[in-house]
Amino acid sequence: MTGATGVDGRPRHLLSIEELGADGLRTLLQLSDTFVEVGQREIPKVPALRGRTVVSLFFEDSTRTRISFETAAKRLSADVMGFSAGSSSLKKGESLRDTVETILAMGVDALVVRHRSSGAPLQVARWCDEISDGRTVSVLNGGDGWHQHPTQALLDAYSLLERLGRRPGDVPSREGVSSASVGDSRHSRVARSNIEAFTLLGADVTLVAPPTLLPAAMPGWPVSVSHDLDEVLAKTDVVYLLRLQRERMEGGLLPSIREYTATYGLTIERTRRLRDDAIVMHPGPMNRGVEIADDATRLLGSLVTDQVRNGVATRMAALFWLLGGSIDG
Ligand code: NCD
Repeated sequence: MTGATGVDGRPRHLLSIEELGADGLRTLLQLSDTFVEVGQREIPKVPALRGRTVVSLFFEDSTRTRISFETAAKRLSADVMGFSAGSSSLKKGESLRDTVETILAMGVDALVVRHRSSGAPLQVARWCDEISDGRTVSVLNGGDGWHQHPTQALLDAYSLLERLGRRPGDVPSREGVSSASVGDSRHSRVARSNIEAFTLLGADVTLVAPPTLLPAAMPGWPVSVSHDLDEVLAKTDVVYLLRLQRERMEGGLLPSIREYTATYGLTIERTRRLRDDAIVMHPGPMNRGVEIADDATRLLGSLVTDQVRNGVATRMAALFWLLGGSIDG
C-alpha cells in the first residue's frame, strides 16, 4: 500500500480492492450511478476533468479495459494519451522507471497501468509520489499479473447490484447472494479482486475448479471450494466464469481442454440446469466453446454486455473520485 491521500482525503491511487475497502467500494458504486446517467444523455460528456491529462500505460494486451478507461476519461473531458509497450522505447531497452519519469515530465494527472508483473502499478505509484515534483499524480491499476484488477471488480459489482435491483447504499446486506467463480482462479487477477469485492458486499463465494487451477494458497480467504460444478449450479445465484489463462500456465495443469470443458465449462447442457433467475458473468475476453458455450452469452441471465457497458461509468467514477473532479466543471 502507498497510503498516499489525494484531494480532500480521498485515496490518491486505486491499486486493489483491499486497499479501497468497503467504504471506498460503496462510495465508488454510488458515484457510478451519476455517470451511468451521464452515459444515457444525448451528449454523454461532462466537463469534470477539463484540463487534466490521463495516460493509459499498457504493457500488456487489452481491448476492453483500455478502450473503456480512455472512453471514461474522454467523457470527463480529460485529455487522453495512450502508450503501448510494443511501439515504445521499451523496445530500445528503456526501463519502466525511465518510461514513467519521461511521462511525468510532460505534466500528467493520472496513469492507468496494466502490466504482466504483479505489483508494477504499486511501484509506479511509489515513483509518482516520489518524483512528481509537487504535482499529484494518481495511479489506477488496470490489471497486474495474477494480482488485482480493481476496476473490473467495481464494474462487476455494479452490474450485479443493478441486476439484483439493489442500491449500493443497501450493502453489505448478507441477504444470501451466492456466487460461484468457475475456472482458473489460480492465475486470475479478476478472481482475486472479485472475491474481495463480492464478499465485502455480503455475497458468499465458492471457487469451482480442478485442484490444479485453484490458488496455491488461500490464507484467510472467505471462500468455499468445490470440484463439482453441477452441484454448485443447482443452488448458485451468480455463475462467474473465468477465462482459462493459458498464457500464464505452465504445462501439465490440465489433462486436456476438452476434458476441462466437459467438467467445468458452462456447456449448453449445463445452462439448462441453471436456476431460472441465475446470473451469468464473464470478464472477457471469452474462450467460447471452452469455459463458456457460444450460446450461453445470449441467455436472459447473461450480464456480459452490462459488464462492458458499466465499465465506462464505473471507471468515470474512479477517475473522478481520485482526481477530485467537479461535476460543475
Ligand atoms: C481480464 C484481464 O485482462 O485481466 N480481462 C479484462 O480486463 N476484461 C480477464 C482475462 O484476461 O481473463
